[in-house]
Amino acid sequence: MKEKIEAVLAEIEALQCKTEAEIEEARVRLLGKKGEITALFEEFRSVAPELKREFGQKLNQLKNAAAAKIEAIKETLATTSTASSSFDATMPGDPYLLGSRHPVSIVRKEIVDIFRKFGYDVAEGPEIEDDWHVFEALNFPPEHPAREMQDTFFISAGHPDPILLRTHTSSVQVRAMEKLPLPIRIVCPGRVFRNEAISARAHCIFHQVEGLYIDENVTFADLKQAILLFVREMFGADASIRMRPSYFPFTEPSAEVDVSCNICHGKGCNICKGTGWLEIMGCGMVDPNVLEASGIDSKKYSGFAFGMGVERIAMLKWQVKDLRNYFENDLRFLREFETVI
Ligand code: DAH
Repeated sequence: MKEKIEAVLAEIEALQCKTEAEIEEARVRLLGKKGEITALFEEFRSVAPELKREFGQKLNQLKNAAAAKIEAIKETLATTSTASSSFDATMPGDPYLLGSRHPVSIVRKEIVDIFRKFGYDVAEGPEIEDDWHVFEALNFPPEHPAREMQDTFFISAGHPDPILLRTHTSSVQVRAMEKLPLPIRIVCPGRVFRNEAISARAHCIFHQVEGLYIDENVTFADLKQAILLFVREMFGADASIRMRPSYFPFTEPSAEVDVSCNICHGKGCNICKGTGWLEIMGCGMVDPNVLEASGIDSKKYSGFAFGMGVERIAMLKWQVKDLRNYFENDLRFLREFETVI
């Protein structure tokens, strides 16, 4: 019996397994119901009483050694099998990509938030419009040459009341004047459409934010102040503005607003084309004809309006040179704005 115990002990010491199945096979061979160690326990029954103590101890040691060896093999197999697979615990984790706002949305939100702070409400209107709201009520009579300034996409041309894609958000002014109680103080962000060839500087779809303030005794000085405050919030406290006389059918007088170049600070660079100024919006005092067309008494009320292109402001803010970047959804471009908001 002694030799048998030693033989099994040697077998346990030499035991090597490469797979789970081999471990199980060894366990059954040694410790199973018909296993070698179990058989030795059977044999132990017929051992002489004076030797029972010695063999009993030896057999128990043998059983424990087998169990311990099998456990140890299991453990090494578990660690080496993960190491030998493609899993590398030292590799850095995959970064979890966060979504981000589109740069146009970031700037639109910034513009709207500034005016909200000044007490303006947000108004929206339809993108598919009628001639009345886009042109007629804004003092563009039929055949007016100013209609040519905006290349319109018509859905039903030649119809007595053509349906079209709005060319500017000024149409929302008209809808607001028709239905809101006075005084009115709103900004209208929205998408607009023009039949233009797509280039670095023009696109057939872009975004505008329109502003409108109507009350008693609103003056051009109020307009200038509102725009200056906006520009300082948007471009920095040291920004200044200048206004150049302009023409829009719906405002009189009308002006084009320039902001001091935030890149060269007036010295002249290629962004401001050496002038030190960047054009950012159109504005003016709402033409009395426009107030009357929406049923507002132009003797009692006056107002100002302004309109700006969101992409244009975004281009100036981040010095994006090609407008098409905003519409191509190239992730390399969009990811540059991940940390902005
Ligand atoms: N609607 C004009 C455009 O799309 C922008 C504009 C200019 C809006 C002057 C205004 C304004 O409200 O007063 O070019």
